[in-house]
Amino acid sequence: MTSASDSHLLMAGTTISHIAPADTLDIRQIVLWPSMRREELMLKEDADGMHFGASSDGALVAVISLFETPNGIRFRKFATLPEWQGKGVGTQLLTHAIEWSRKKGERRIWCDARVSALPFYARHGFAAEGGVFEKSGVAYTVMSREL
Ligand SMILES: CC(C)(COP(=O)(O)OP(=O)(O)OC[C@H]1O[C@@H](n2cnc3c(N)ncnc32)[C@H](O)[C@@H]1OP(=O)(O)O)[C@@H](O)C(=O)NCCC(=O)NCCS
Repeated sequence: MTSASDSHLLMAGTTISHIAPADTLDIRQIVLWPSMRREELMLKEDADGMHFGASSDGALVAVISLFETPNGIRFRKFATLPEWQGKGVGTQLLTHAIEWSRKKGERRIWCDARVSALPFYARHGFAAEGGVFEKSGVAYTVMSREL
């Protein structure tokens, strides 16, 4: 975790901070790929990415990882712990990612979205591009929005 000066205070006791890639692994595993080992959830691009975490009382509850691509900022491995979902933390983290991307001068943000999360992204102004495809038994579609 970085210093408190890098953190943004949100709802009582909740902050968003720049975190190290390794700090994302537990939540990636618990939420997205429980059958995989932590080591398998490291991305080769992680070292070049920007990772943000939402914490409550010092414990991470949600993570998101951002990567520069020729088509804009791609976010990956976006996840909120089950007991924290539906409380607005994901919205705050995604909003932070969008603001960060905008400040960098990026024009577009996109992800391979789990089809199960499409309503969430649509509510945040994302539109689907192209069809549904499958990776490791999970259905995805590319979703993007202008910044
Ligand atoms: C997708 C995900 C990251 C969103 O994070 P989250 O913390 O649950 O996000 P929010 O709480 O801001 O919003 C989730 C829903 O709760 C609702 N919500 C937000 N704040 C709320 C509140 N205070 N009270 C009630 N509902 C609320 C939102 O309207 C939203 O509904 P929607 O999904 O129909 O749009 C999270 O649900 C998750 O980890 N899902 C499993 C993994 C996954 O699919 N990741 C995305 C991969 S592409």
